[in-house]
Amino acid sequence: MDTSDAPLMEASLASLGDRHDGMAAELFDRFIADHPHYAPVFLNPEAARERMTRETLEAMLGLAAGEYWVDHAVTNFIDLHHNYADFTPHDYAAWFALVVETMAARAGADWPDDASAAWQRQADGLVAKVGAVARNREVPVRA
Ligand code: HEM
Repeated sequence: MDTSDAPLMEASLASLGDRHDGMAAELFDRFIADHPHYAPVFLNPEAARERMTRETLEAMLGLAAGEYWVDHAVTNFIDLHHNYADFTPHDYAAWFALVVETMAARAGADWPDDASAAWQRQADGLVAKVGAVARNREVPVRA
């Protein structure tokens, strides 16, 4: 198992410092603006945005560190999101790309070289899992 991206990703997250504050709000504003057709399914963005951002970062860090629970985390967020809409792997890829791009922009010159590539590798790995993990078939998909 290749866990070589994990230390660089942790260092890059630390390089954000206070610039992490307000990132979830920025991510949600931008994501919803870029995907206006999904705006109606974001019922309470203020309640969801911090958790969604935290759990996204945790899933990427967990995959990089080879954590055993990553497949379950992916199943959990797929099942959760079926309460809102039928999101595609492409939607997840767009969200991950926005998260990586926003962290790099906020950290500016402090963002380590190659950090974006390391995060993006984990994003790609998670998007591949979105199509592959066994989801809970009892959870109906919202049309
Ligand atoms: C790894 C990727 C993601 C993770 C870990 C994640 C996680 C979460 C979490 C923890 C919540 C809060 C649920 C609650 O309050 O019970 C949430 C809400 C939500 N997420 Fe995500 N999410 C991810 C990606 C996405 C993507 C790609 C979309 C859309 C295309 C999306 C759309 C939503 C919506 C519509 C809500 C409900 C917001 C609201 O109540 O206003 N999420 N997500």
